Amino acid sequence: MSKQELEITAKAMVASGKGILAMDESTPTCKSRFEKLGIACTEENRQAYRDMLVTIDGLSEFIGAAILFDETIRQKSLNGTPFATCLSNAGIIPGIKVDKGAKDLAGHPAEKVTEGLDGLRDRLAEYKEMGARFTKWRAVITIAEGIPSRGCIEANAHGLARYAALAQEAGLVPIVEPEVLINGDHTIERSFEVTEETLHTVFDELVTQRVHLEGMILKPSMVISGLDCPQRAGVTEVAEHTVRCLLHTVPAAVLGVAFLSGGQTDEQATAHLNAMHNLGRDLPWTLTFSYARALQQRAMEIWRGKAANVTAAQKALYHRAKLNSAAARGSYSEAMEQEAA
Ligand code: 13P
Repeated sequence: MSKQELEITAKAMVASGKGILAMDESTPTCKSRFEKLGIACTEENRQAYRDMLVTIDGLSEFIGAAILFDETIRQKSLNGTPFATCLSNAGIIPGIKVDKGAKDLAGHPAEKVTEGLDGLRDRLAEYKEMGARFTKWRAVITIAEGIPSRGCIEANAHGLARYAALAQEAGLVPIVEPEVLINGDHTIERSFEVTEETLHTVFDELVTQRVHLEGMILKPSMVISGLDCPQRAGVTEVAEHTVRCLLHTVPAAVLGVAFLSGGQTDEQATAHLNAMHNLGRDLPWTLTFSYARALQQRAMEIWRGKAANVTAAQKALYHRAKLNSAAARGSYSEAMEQEAA
C-alpha cells in the first residue's frame, strides 16, 4: 500500500467533527467493567454488548472509526454479519488493537512495557484479511516518586515505533498510544513534564524507525492533574497545558491527534476537548477524541446485559458521541448535556 493510501485512511478516521470509538477492551478489562455492573462476562454477553454498540443508527455522523479487540473481529453480530463488515457497512472504519498488554518491565519496579512485537507481521496480515484498516498499540507510563525512568520511556517508545513501522508496511494506519496514567497525586506541571518527555522520545523513535508521520494517528493522554492531587487543575488549565505540550512535541506532519479519556468522567473529557478548540490557537493537526470509557460508560450502565435496554443504551451512546463531536469543533456547551438524547 502506498503512503498516499495510508494518508487517505488516516484522514477519514478523523474527518472533521468525527472521533474514534475505542471498543477494544481485552477480555479481563471487559470482565472488570461488566462485573462492576453485575453483568456476567460470557462470550455471549460480550458479543451482545458489541452488537449494541455497532448497530447504533446514524453513529457515523460522529464516529469515523472503531477499534475492535481480537475476539470481536473474529465474531459475528447478532444478525450473522462479521463485526468488521457491520462497521464498514455503517460507514465506520474498522481497526484492531494489536498489542499484547503492558507487562512488568525487568529491572524497573512499578513500571510497565507493552509486549506484542513477536509474530506481529503475521498477525497484521491476518487482521488485514479480516477487514481491519488500522491498528492500535497502547503503552503506559506511570507517574510516582522517582518514576517514570528513562529506561521505561525509551523501551515503550521503541516498541511503539517498531509496531507503527510494521503496521504501515502491512498497509494499516497505526494509532500510536503513549498513555501517561492519571493515577497518583501529581500536579498538572508534573504531568506536563512527563508527557512532554514521553512524546519527544516517541517521535524521535518514530522518525528513527522511518514511520510516515502523515499516515499515523497519535492517541495521547491529556495533560491533567493526578486523580488524588489535592488541587486539581480546571478545564481551561488542562486545555492550555495539553495544547502547549502537543505544540512542543507533535510534528505538524501528523494528520490527527485523538485523545484517550484515561479515567476522566465523560463530561470532563468532553469539556476538556472543547476548551482546547476555544483557546484561539491555530493547530496544525485535527484534534479529536478516541474514548472508550468516556463514550461507553453511561450506555453500559443502562444496558446491563438486557436486550430490553438496548435502545435506551444506544440513545445514550449516540448522544455522548454527538456531544464529543461538537467538542471536536469547539461548539459544545454544558447545556447540551440536558438535551434529550
Ligand atoms: P479510555 O478512553 O477509557 O482511556 O480508553 C482508551 C483506550 O483505547 C485505552 O487503550
